Amino acid sequence: MENAKVDVTLTINNKLRTLSVGLGESLLVALRRASYFSVKYGCDDGTCGVCTVLLNGKPVRSCKVKAIDVDGAEITTLEGLGRNGELHPLQSAFMETGAIQCGYCTPAQILSAKALLDQNPDPTEDEIRKSLNGVLCRCTGYVRGVEAVKRAAAILRGEKVSPYTHVEQTLPDEVEQIELPEAFYRRDGGRNPLPPLVITPRAMPPTRILGKPEVKIDARKLAQGRPVFTDDLHLDGMLYGALLTSPHAHARIRNIDASRARALPGVHAVLTYKDIPRVKYASGGQSYPQPLPYDQVSLDDKVRHVGDRVAIVAAETPEIAQRALELIEVDYEVLPAVVDPERAMQDGAPVIHDEPDTEGIYDAQHNVVHHIAAEVGDVEQAFAEADHLFEGEYRTPKQQQVHLEPHVCITYLDEDDRLVIRTSTQVPFHIRRMVAPLIGLPVRRIRVIKPRIGGGFGNKQELILEDLCAHLTLATMRPVRMVYSRTQEFTSSRSRHANIIRYRIGVKEGKVTAASLYLIGDTGAYGAHGLTVNMVGGFKGLTLYNPPNARFICDVVYTNTPPAGAFRGYGAMQCQYGIEVLMEEIADKLGLDVVEFKRSNWLKIGEPMHLSKQLGEGREGVEQAIQSSALAQCVDVGLRATDFKSKRRQHRSQNARYLHGIGMAVVMHGSGIANLDMAAATLKMNDDGSFNLLIGATDLGTGSDTILAQMAAEVLGIPLEDVIVYSSDTDFTPFDKGAYASSTTYISGGAVRKAALRIKDQILEHAKLMLDISDPSDLVLENRKVIAPDGRSVTLAEIALSSLHQQNQHQIMATASHMSPLSPPPTAAQFAEIVVDTQTGRISVERLLMVVDCGRVINPITAAGQVEGGMAQALGFTLTEEMLFDQEGHPLNPNLAKYHIPRAAEMPAMDVIFVQTDEPSGPFGAKSVAEISIDGVAPAIASAIHDATGVWMRELPYTPERVKSALQRAKMA
Ligand code: FES
Repeated sequence: MENAKVDVTLTINNKLRTLSVGLGESLLVALRRASYFSVKYGCDDGTCGVCTVLLNGKPVRSCKVKAIDVDGAEITTLEGLGRNGELHPLQSAFMETGAIQCGYCTPAQILSAKALLDQNPDPTEDEIRKSLNGVLCRCTGYVRGVEAVKRAAAILRGEKVSPYTHVEQTLPDEVEQIELPEAFYRRDGGRNPLPPLVITPRAMPPTRILGKPEVKIDARKLAQGRPVFTDDLHLDGMLYGALLTSPHAHARIRNIDASRARALPGVHAVLTYKDIPRVKYASGGQSYPQPLPYDQVSLDDKVRHVGDRVAIVAAETPEIAQRALELIEVDYEVLPAVVDPERAMQDGAPVIHDEPDTEGIYDAQHNVVHHIAAEVGDVEQAFAEADHLFEGEYRTPKQQQVHLEPHVCITYLDEDDRLVIRTSTQVPFHIRRMVAPLIGLPVRRIRVIKPRIGGGFGNKQELILEDLCAHLTLATMRPVRMVYSRTQEFTSSRSRHANIIRYRIGVKEGKVTAASLYLIGDTGAYGAHGLTVNMVGGFKGLTLYNPPNARFICDVVYTNTPPAGAFRGYGAMQCQYGIEVLMEEIADKLGLDVVEFKRSNWLKIGEPMHLSKQLGEGREGVEQAIQSSALAQCVDVGLRATDFKSKRRQHRSQNARYLHGIGMAVVMHGSGIANLDMAAATLKMNDDGSFNLLIGATDLGTGSDTILAQMAAEVLGIPLEDVIVYSSDTDFTPFDKGAYASSTTYISGGAVRKAALRIKDQILEHAKLMLDISDPSDLVLENRKVIAPDGRSVTLAEIALSSLHQQNQHQIMATASHMSPLSPPPTAAQFAEIVVDTQTGRISVERLLMVVDCGRVINPITAAGQVEGGMAQALGFTLTEEMLFDQEGHPLNPNLAKYHIPRAAEMPAMDVIFVQTDEPSGPFGAKSVAEISIDGVAPAIASAIHDATGVWMRELPYTPERVKSALQRAKMA
């Protein structure tokens, strides 16, 4: 009976279809098997909503509906929207407003909105948010989605809408006097979406395509739900891989018997530690050589966290693979577990890595994987001479990335018996290098393809499934597909490091003269990224105020919890949270104006960053000084936009159940890893004067393909549509370190700019021949033409045809590499307005405003999307998100029903203002924007809570229980 199939007849997108479905099969599985790939898998319990389709016109979660129960029904998927190549107004509006980032949630969001507009052509903003509320999005702050639905509704009502764009303003000399467009003051307290505001200094050189709100070049296919993600592919003969994970947080595998699983019909391979060579590695996708320790093997005889790898299976169907996992008999010797990093460091704690073949653990007996120490100046002397000393301890939680597309990988052998790895990764080139020794193939026999990615946020800067999937393909010689369940994302992927952050600060005459930071980083069961995340935390946490005497001591500690790894913010957000709250506390205690206290201390243009040489990223860094910053302007603009000072005055006289608070934090980040990150780009001219841009850079939904194409178009005098981007495929695109460390705009952009300049030289050189001009520097390249001083011109298409077929024949093409000795910090001011319910402890955030200096803004819509998305993730980090475990290491909330990430209806007003600078080392003056956006929300909300209640909250997340008990403690004190 288990495999019995029945026919159901459905009207799908107005066409009658008969599908053969299993008795218990969900509509989601049936639709995807029938190639409706716009319907996505995102969770196991119907919480995420990315599988939403319309069933008889109503949105339903197709994973919760059995296919046999809807026989005769009418189904609409995203493939059914739009007619004759024309997009539905919702699809166009989602594209234009920047509501599509990775696009994984887009089909479900558009269908949910369609159901609303079919019933209600003129919905209120709250009704729109409610309609989107059932579909989680982790990339955006839902701001542009709400705007998209409003615009589409207006168009469907027959109203005229103007093209969607940002707002521009010139930066006046007296910044404090700036008059912003009225909407940005939010005097009505609403949360309607505002377009981003870009404020530009007069001296900034103008550009043609840069700075324009170009629609993301991949938006159309994402708006149509085209099969562009890793899993939207079915290969003939493909097997389904599955991973058996540990139920114990710490155990030795005495024996494992897979004979019953292997005997199950339909099973093609079962692999355990007995079947795979023991090759040590570190799973973090980082540059060669990755930092020690190499403390993992593909499959081990010891497990160190619930969810650790035990065995893998490949079978004809996912159901058979699951059944096979159940038949594997594992004899565990359960060992004591430790989940608290401070306890893990004590004498007598369970030793998590007692294996003899891991090198590079600092103190395995005390589970200390790294001990970091760095110092400049004379900290003790400066403390002794300080007028005041202050101390503060802050705690930040283990947060899950929750990209809506899970880890997924398909491996197969091509016609030359080379292994192809099609995978949802941020680091295709690192994956190729890292996987080779694990599977015993040389790099030349491996090709890694990165299709569109449904979000990553650092969790896909990691070797997670690729080695396992490849082992199964090599064992079976068949294509194999592996995908994590949502539970496995929580138990078996990576997360943010939980940190304990202890600062000591010396202040003399209003200046921070010395600071020490002791940091404990909980790296979980394995150490990948442990060194670098915590080093970055120390560097940023001690450089924002850059005292000349600074000391960083850090212990990175193993615990029996799922490994931590890379997550947007990468240590910097944790440590900047600590320093920002402590700076507020100091100003409060000394009776200083907090903004002016911070202003007189923050890092300024021309200052050397004192710890930049000692604290590189996993290795020695380089001396760096800051060359551009608009932090002061960002703060001043934000103070005006929020009416900060007068609200703070008003809040002093509050005495009610609901208390209002406003807070502010300043933050900095980096742009790539100085002296290490390298990217390359290739540009090639086609017969019609268009160009292929081949890049190894990895667009995760951020819009990096678009902004890199804008850079090429800017140099080449062409519209964006003339640049055809291909990214990334290790066989066809040049090396790029991948998408992490906020490096793509700055480093990959540098490579694109160089390649485009080289192409420009070649074009002018050829045009010189065609126009019979002696000096190519007299020629101008613009509007798809080269123009001579006398007005004669040749088009790029003519140059292409001439260079390929007629005169001095050659291919106009160039490859350029780029790296930078610097990592210029973007800076930002984050503002938060909240209401605290003093009875329940619940915090309602009413407005988040970030004013950002990210250098030149290449695309205001995609950049604002990054900031909104970062603030949304930070909001979860601040208020609700924390991976919890019991004392034995069992996860308590490994699903999206219990682990709460922000939904559309819960979002505050989210506003973004850019104050541009012209970073001398950046391509066209650009720095980075991806990570700084996440850094400031937590300290700004801490500041707002104190403004509202007078209480300092030092442990995240600020759950109602924590806030309530802090308020009660304060009352009793
Ligand atoms: Fe919504 Fe990525 S755009 S999950």
